[in-house]
Amino acid sequence: MAFDLEMIKAVYDGMGSRIEAARTAVGRPLTLTEKILYAHLYGGSVSQAYERGVSYVDFAPDRVAMQDATAQMALLQFMQAGKPQVAVPSTVHCDHLIQAKEGADEDLAIANSENREVYDFLASVSNKYGIGFWKPGAGIIHQVVLENYAFPGGMMIGTDSHTPNAGGLGMIAIGVGGADAVDVMAGMAWELKFPKVIGVKLTGKLSGWTAPKDVILKVAGILTVKGGTGAIVEYFGEGAESMSCTGKATICNMGAEIGATTSVFSYDDKMSDYLRGTERAEVAAMADGVRQHLRADEEVYANPAAFYDQLIEINLSELEPHVNGPFTPDAAWPISQFASAVREHGWPEKLEVGLIGSCTNSSYEDITRAASVAEQAVQKGLTVSAEFTVTPGSELVRYTVERDGLLDTFAQMGGVVLANACGPCIGQWARHTDDPKRRNSIITSFNRNFAKRNDGNPNTHAFVASPEIVTAFAIAGDLTFNPLVDTLTTKDGQQVKLDEPHGLEMPPQGYAVEDAGFQAPAADGTGVQVIVDPTSDRLELLDPFKPWEGTDLKGLRLLIKAQGKCTTDHISMAGPWLKYRGHLDNISNNMLIGAINAFNGEANSVKDGMTQGTPYSAVPQVARNYKAQGIGSIVVGDENYGEGSSREHAAMEPRHLGVRAILVKSFARIHETNLKKQGMLALTFANKADYDLIEEDDTFDILGLTEFAPGKPLQIRLHHADGDTDLITVNHTYNQGQIEWFKAGSALNLIRLKESGEA
Ligand code: F3S
Repeated sequence: MAFDLEMIKAVYDGMGSRIEAARTAVGRPLTLTEKILYAHLYGGSVSQAYERGVSYVDFAPDRVAMQDATAQMALLQFMQAGKPQVAVPSTVHCDHLIQAKEGADEDLAIANSENREVYDFLASVSNKYGIGFWKPGAGIIHQVVLENYAFPGGMMIGTDSHTPNAGGLGMIAIGVGGADAVDVMAGMAWELKFPKVIGVKLTGKLSGWTAPKDVILKVAGILTVKGGTGAIVEYFGEGAESMSCTGKATICNMGAEIGATTSVFSYDDKMSDYLRGTERAEVAAMADGVRQHLRADEEVYANPAAFYDQLIEINLSELEPHVNGPFTPDAAWPISQFASAVREHGWPEKLEVGLIGSCTNSSYEDITRAASVAEQAVQKGLTVSAEFTVTPGSELVRYTVERDGLLDTFAQMGGVVLANACGPCIGQWARHTDDPKRRNSIITSFNRNFAKRNDGNPNTHAFVASPEIVTAFAIAGDLTFNPLVDTLTTKDGQQVKLDEPHGLEMPPQGYAVEDAGFQAPAADGTGVQVIVDPTSDRLELLDPFKPWEGTDLKGLRLLIKAQGKCTTDHISMAGPWLKYRGHLDNISNNMLIGAINAFNGEANSVKDGMTQGTPYSAVPQVARNYKAQGIGSIVVGDENYGEGSSREHAAMEPRHLGVRAILVKSFARIHETNLKKQGMLALTFANKADYDLIEEDDTFDILGLTEFAPGKPLQIRLHHADGDTDLITVNHTYNQGQIEWFKAGSALNLIRLKESGEA
């Protein structure tokens, strides 16, 4: 049994009294979010009310999940904390490092050989410290977690931004950086600003071509990529209860695209069915016993506007299928308006590839609905015009859908089944194309569609939609096609329309699998050796960052003033760089190479203020030059800096290359926290217009650090090349504990000092 019944029982046993205490402290009925959060306070007892969106609170999550790209750095860090075993049930999932090229078997064999040293490290370090290890090919972290570990009312953190997927099973599951995982695995408190709560009331019922994916595509259009920042999105209503558990997971998964801390549904019969269907009847029975704690208080549902910080209402009966994109997941187009949007914007109409699956959309229901469309292509004699790939989310799903003949259906349509792994979703895609720079369009059932994400080509227009819509588009090969109204031409010249898709929430014969790909850890790992090759260019043991020197930081050089969108993909690009995730110095060669320099409009070309002659050079090179000369640097950015993934490399790389502060108009939450964990200064302009004062040759003094205190702004003196200076005020969100991280040089430094009794 992979899941931990004792732990779940302990959570449920403590819930009632904690929720009661919270209701008394808060003095009003509670949302589901509040119930789960108050039931997971570090230390257990509820002694006060916390203010949503304001209070920093220490939590004790029940679980940690890590994917292989982020687990490397997290576990390298955990090793440094000096603990014998992880404090809470934890798992590692090998899903991000498998490149999609030929098909599942071939690609998996290559990955096993190319990533051997990483897999050996992860398997051995998991074995030693009591961590469950899911081998390459076992599946994608969020799908495996949903099938095995998520439980209603639980709280989990995961080192991947789509961890909220588990909200489909009623869990508060939050994407974090590896440093946060280290804290929880080490038994420390995990801190989070108590989130605001956005309510989404779902009325009506889905039908026809509309799928759960369309709910989140619609919500993304309403809230935009920033609208969920600092908030948990709580879904409820009759529409929620009529939707499958896996459909709910899709919606929660993509809550990451609106910047939400996480998303969650209240416990219902669909969740109970899914738990029973995935061999967790005991969990379902226990959840049934505490059902009233696994949903908001009835007063909240009766008058939601009074209890949520923001309320959105969506009638599922009226919801159209959506296609979102390109380049951002919040550009939401109802299908009836999409064709004209394609024409108006001049997006390439020819669709080159349709990709279904991924952690977002590879449930049995998704696959059956997509297969019901694919089947029509075969039966109606349609020519499939685009390439088509299928990425199952787990071996459990893959084995089951193969058994049920669904993979055959896709194969008959010309589809290629890829490994149970991230593949094209994270840029691990050796795409078959004669021109890798061509303007082109693809459509996926994934979640994220930033430029270059899937294939590294900035001219690829990536759109996201439900798997059934993606399948229909792949058949048509044309972005202006609307399967609800348009016809297609068969091989013998007939005009036919696709019928509405139909699917099954769960397999009628039950799920099945031969080898799920799980390796349980040693009961006693004391004698287990962790395998790290000292000559490896992919793994490197860490050196601690230096503590703060105790003075203001003066004479910092501007490394880059980034303009516009600067996501974690711009800061620490994925794709080919994933292989260096366990080697800080090597991966730092990708630092900020995707960010656009505000002074020349170019990527990876910044002025080296210490070099005469032709001073423009690659960002990592300039940072290394400054570092070699003992000069600190600063990065300036725009709005929502660091949106996207939870990777802490985006914070560790600048720290490693001598950047002392990131100064921006606003931060994405996870990235801001990651910067703090690594001992970096994460600062925001008090007056956003001051961004325009920053000139290319400026040097910076950060003032006020000796009195660094919560809520107290700092100041920065800008020294311009012409001798003029400007003094600007900058804000920060550090609390006292986070200031201690800064002073110690990093959160991990502070843990080690505490372990050794030096702090
Ligand atoms: Fe993997 Fe893409 Fe999901 S990278 S974890 S399949 S968002």
